[in-house]
Amino acid sequence: MKTILVTGARGQIGSDLVSALRRRFGATQVIESTRKAVPHLEGNLLPYEVLDVTDEHRLQEIVEHYQVDTIYHLAGLLSAKGEQNPELCWNINVNGLKNVLQVAKSHQLRVFWPSSIAVFGPHTPKLDTPQITVEDPSTVYGITKVTGELLCRYYAYQFGVDVRSLRLPGIISYSTLPGGGTTDFAVEIFYAALKYGTYTCFVRPETRLPMMYMPDAIAAILHLMEADSALIKVRSSYNIAAVSFSAEELVAEIQKYLPEFTCDYAPDFRQAIADSWPCVIDDSRARADWGWKHTYDLPAIVADMLAKLDERLMRVGQESMVCAQSLF
Ligand code: SER
Repeated sequence: MKTILVTGARGQIGSDLVSALRRRFGATQVIESTRKAVPHLEGNLLPYEVLDVTDEHRLQEIVEHYQVDTIYHLAGLLSAKGEQNPELCWNINVNGLKNVLQVAKSHQLRVFWPSSIAVFGPHTPKLDTPQITVEDPSTVYGITKVTGELLCRYYAYQFGVDVRSLRLPGIISYSTLPGGGTTDFAVEIFYAALKYGTYTCFVRPETRLPMMYMPDAIAAILHLMEADSALIKVRSSYNIAAVSFSAEELVAEIQKYLPEFTCDYAPDFRQAIADSWPCVIDDSRARADWGWKHTYDLPAIVADMLAKLDERLMRVGQESMVCAQSLF
């Protein structure tokens, strides 16, 4: 039976991943952890721990206490937040990962760790970005992801750690908001469209970035982690892709359902970050090595997002509206 620790469990990906893992492996087999205490989780019957991943000793204690065999290490700062606090970004993203790899080495754990399209930079080919290419990130977040990939590969080849990773694109989802990323506009826009009928986008209309719907991201992570070890030929991180679209294409798709919806554009510092990233990623290695394929294209994402978010906003009512409002 698997015993799984998820760090950063209440982030955008963690929230959906914990539910998927609990459905698959049993609710009590998945230990959620967060850096700051979440009171309602502490009173909960399901396994939960407060864990700052920069504390290796505490991480080891939790792994030994629960006899963890797999870690999904999601704790980390995203690109925009990283620029606002580069030191914290380095500490959590690099030192946190190094601690996870150390504990994985001493306890023979399997590890999933998300890298990002942010490993690429202004000199990387923007179209069909290859698996192996120039990595010259202009953000500290990107630098931590390049460093992390090298650490993963090093621990895999030097110490036999079974670490697996994906260079995730922007992830679109309705259950938890992303926090502090450059691709966040592609999630915020849905809340704004439903609540206000208008949105001010922080990147220019023609900004085209790789994106993926959360169900595809969860499927990719689970698929990668369940693949036979011999199939995992890239131990730094796999390019992975689903769709690429510009901000204005996203607006046009939303307008098919909400014709009154309007979007204006006020690019801020995140424009430069977006401009340094690729538009379309070549993920043929992931497709060939372990059979990755995506399901959701742009029309399918927009249809599902609007339906699910509308239903959710209606269900949780005023409280959720206030949360969504605090975004803008
Ligand atoms: N979605 C992330 C960000 O925008 C990219 O990995 O920071």
